[in-house]
Amino acid sequence: MAYTAKIGPSILSSDLSQLGGECERMMECGADYLHLDVMDGHFVPNITFGHPMVECLRRCIGPDPFFDMHMMVSRPEQWVKPMAAAGANQYTFHLEATTNPGNLIKEIRESGMKVGLAIKPGTTVEELAPWAGQIDMALVMTVEPGFGGQKFMEDMMPKVSWLRGQFPSLDIEVDGGVGPDSIHRCAEAGANMIVSGSAVVSSDDPRSVIALLKNVVIEAIQKRSLDR
Ligand code: DX5
Ligand code: ZN
Repeated sequence: MAYTAKIGPSILSSDLSQLGGECERMMECGADYLHLDVMDGHFVPNITFGHPMVECLRRCIGPDPFFDMHMMVSRPEQWVKPMAAAGANQYTFHLEATTNPGNLIKEIRESGMKVGLAIKPGTTVEELAPWAGQIDMALVMTVEPGFGGQKFMEDMMPKVSWLRGQFPSLDIEVDGGVGPDSIHRCAEAGANMIVSGSAVVSSDDPRSVIALLKNVVIEAIQKRSLDR
């Protein structure tokens, strides 16, 4: 089985005035990567930050941490080159935001980044499927994108199970309301990249939460490989 368990804290719910320190803290607590939420106030009703912030974070934290850019923006095409130059590792765009996913995938690859493709709760997984062979990661949103701290949508899990059945080695990420209460559902369905915002960042003991989330996913992956 090609995929492994990875936990990527979303720093959206952290103290944004201390973002560099918060990113460092998450890596020290065992994060496998950082999930950075870019919002433009148009694709979603909220604004966060853009590539200048990513450039500063990269400078602050060094070359190693993997930045998964969750691009909740209209016209995602326009930020591919600036994000690559700023030090992003993966460019995860929304299928709903573009009319030409094939071309965007190509541009992201040519910029040297990995490709993630995200779908909102209202988008079917069959719409994503034609692109699954060309991407590195599929992101199944488990809340409506725009805000941290929302309730996990368990009814998104059939999408994850379907994808895992069809694409056994694809990285599948879940994002939104994921924490100790919902991780079992995600892991059983076949997700292996776990975004967790408030459950990790607001915890008194982020290291333990990250370890717990990771262990649940590792166990599910081991069980899946034994069942095969
Ligand atoms: C929501 C963002 C998420 C969010 C996750 O639009 O994409 O990454 O910050 O935060 P929690 O885990 O608190 O839902
Ligand atoms: Zn996100």
